[in-house]
Amino acid sequence: MISQKEYTKRRNKFAKKLDDNSVAILYSAKYKTRSNDTEYPFRQESNFYYLCGFREDNSVLVFVKSKSSTKTMLFVQKKDAMLELWNGKRVGEIEAKRIFDVDEVSTSDIFMQKLPELLQGKNTLYFDFASKDERMNALLDQAKTIPSHKDIMPLIGYMRLIKSPSEIMMIQEALEITKKAHHKAMKLQKIGKKEYELQAEIEYIFKKNGAYSDAYTSIVACANAANTLHYVENSAPLVDRALILIDAGCELEYYASDITRTIPVNGTFSKAQKELYEMVLDVELRIIEMIKPKVKRSQLQAKAVELLCKGMLDLGILKGSLKKNIKKETYKKYYPHGIGHWMGLDVHDQCPYKYENGQEIPLMSGMVLTIEPGIYIDKDDKKVPKKYRGIGIRIEDDILVTQNGYENLSREISKSVKEIESY
Ligand code: GLY
Ligand code: MN
Ligand code: MN
Repeated sequence: MISQKEYTKRRNKFAKKLDDNSVAILYSAKYKTRSNDTEYPFRQESNFYYLCGFREDNSVLVFVKSKSSTKTMLFVQKKDAMLELWNGKRVGEIEAKRIFDVDEVSTSDIFMQKLPELLQGKNTLYFDFASKDERMNALLDQAKTIPSHKDIMPLIGYMRLIKSPSEIMMIQEALEITKKAHHKAMKLQKIGKKEYELQAEIEYIFKKNGAYSDAYTSIVACANAANTLHYVENSAPLVDRALILIDAGCELEYYASDITRTIPVNGTFSKAQKELYEMVLDVELRIIEMIKPKVKRSQLQAKAVELLCKGMLDLGILKGSLKKNIKKETYKKYYPHGIGHWMGLDVHDQCPYKYENGQEIPLMSGMVLTIEPGIYIDKDDKKVPKKYRGIGIRIEDDILVTQNGYENLSREISKSVKEIESY
């Protein structure tokens, strides 16, 4: 759990970054309609959550900064017995004041009334430029006279890049559950089952262990389906002797995990599958070994491209010289994506990859990123030796950058051929 003390620390740090004589407004997430009278599961907006840990909808967090101090305000839903009977308990303003260490708590029904007073005479308005809904329109309508509008996102994004010890613990706890799920998938007798049955077993373990949700839609892709990067149908039969690419990770208390394992349906890799798999695994291990402060993600990607190209040349998937293949980007057909991404509250954590001046942000102690090389060979690709066609492999781990190197937070999730075959 993240303590209230930590949320206060984050707000203080955020407030320091704001211009004098400014106001910052962060809205909670909103329920999204799925169909008549039915909503998608609610999940709090990540930046709002990062700064206060409050989980209800229809709420607003406000920072009013003058030269000498910052006032923090939280607008929460008013207690309402009848609505709470239908939709669940609300914390309410009295309890919220007790729990959350903000200067002022009010009810959200008066937020629009209070807004002119909050905006009055300010030079800068901070808000989330990416959020576009009627609340934002109403805010901008009232904020026309404020000379400067600034995006909140980079400010919080830089903060979210570096994870605190308790955030790292949350990710580790999420990974503990995700580990159980992937190991269950390895253990299960899979022949004769469908992809969705395997997905159900994985997600059962997420929920059974207290993870409210997956961190993203699980991919359970057997055989050639693994070559569709965002395959989420998960409806096909598991084919004996084929591989299954499973990209699944739970979200626990708002923190993500993001793990891919590629395993054989019948428990044993064929010779060709093993050749490809061990090539990708070797690349993954070597890229992870490179991780330490000051190294750049682009260096990891360049090395992954080089190593994957070498591997594909050795296996006869690519032809010609290494240099030419890299220059002509022939590998992109088989390795079309990046080496990894930041991970935290969001699976693709909303943190910058570049400084404002355009320079790439290097790795720093406390960052968490995924490393996920892959090779995808379509079943109809006549340019590739027949034995490799229809195989898609990705191996993905979640890595913490430490002061001297890295810690693989998902190191306990089996991935060598020997380990996988031993289940
Ligand atoms: N599961 C999403 C990703 O690997 O980026
Ligand atoms: Mn990923
Ligand atoms: Mn993934």
